[in-house]
Amino acid sequence: MATERFDKIIANQFNISRKDARIAIRRGKGTVDGQTVRDPSLLVDTASKIVFDGQALEYKKFVYILMNKPKGVLSASEDKSRKTVVDLVPKQFKRNGLFPVGRLDKDTTGLLIITDDGDFAHRAIAPNKNVYKTYEATLDGAVTNEMVEAFSQGVILADGTACKKARLTPIAPNKAQIMISEGKYHQIKRMFGTVGLGVNELKRTAIGGLRLPGDLSEGECFLLTEQEIDTIFTNC
Ligand code: URA
Repeated sequence: MATERFDKIIANQFNISRKDARIAIRRGKGTVDGQTVRDPSLLVDTASKIVFDGQALEYKKFVYILMNKPKGVLSASEDKSRKTVVDLVPKQFKRNGLFPVGRLDKDTTGLLIITDDGDFAHRAIAPNKNVYKTYEATLDGAVTNEMVEAFSQGVILADGTACKKARLTPIAPNKAQIMISEGKYHQIKRMFGTVGLGVNELKRTAIGGLRLPGDLSEGECFLLTEQEIDTIFTNC
């Protein structure tokens, strides 16, 4: 049996502050298995039937949201003046503590996961976990066989930073797929910079075996199931 304080459950699952949860609970707004619970500190079995303010709760320990990140939005939880990916999460998926798993540059689009599960995020992005992230890059020149070979050996960035082996595949004139298993700052742009190519457009299309659905518009998102989350750890 997994238990949590009642105010913590209500605050996290209904995206309200702990203080507001405590006030509402004391006013008798929450029930557990049909009984009103007015003690915010009561340890409640998370599998119980919980109703708050007339709404039945479907308890989720963590949420995993797949977003097609649009251009012009920051990969961050909050910012004083600029719009963030967490600002774009629809109200029904909002929770306290949401953050993006790894960062896409402001002008990069595509697959981004937003979660409140720190352990999962670490497993998905730590370089030693070898989860490949797949991108499509539109370039200002053509990819040569020498570049494919250089990327497969691991390029050295202009500042001397060594990158792990990457898989580079030309897919159209001036367009390539690139797979990397780490996420250094502006990594792909800097990798192409070492071979004299500029990146005009960058889109992430997969993380491990989890692909960005082709029919998901930029800015849209949906909740992932546990099975879909697991596909991240099966590399393509
Ligand atoms: N590499 C980049 O250069 N930018 C991104 O957004 C992601 C990877």
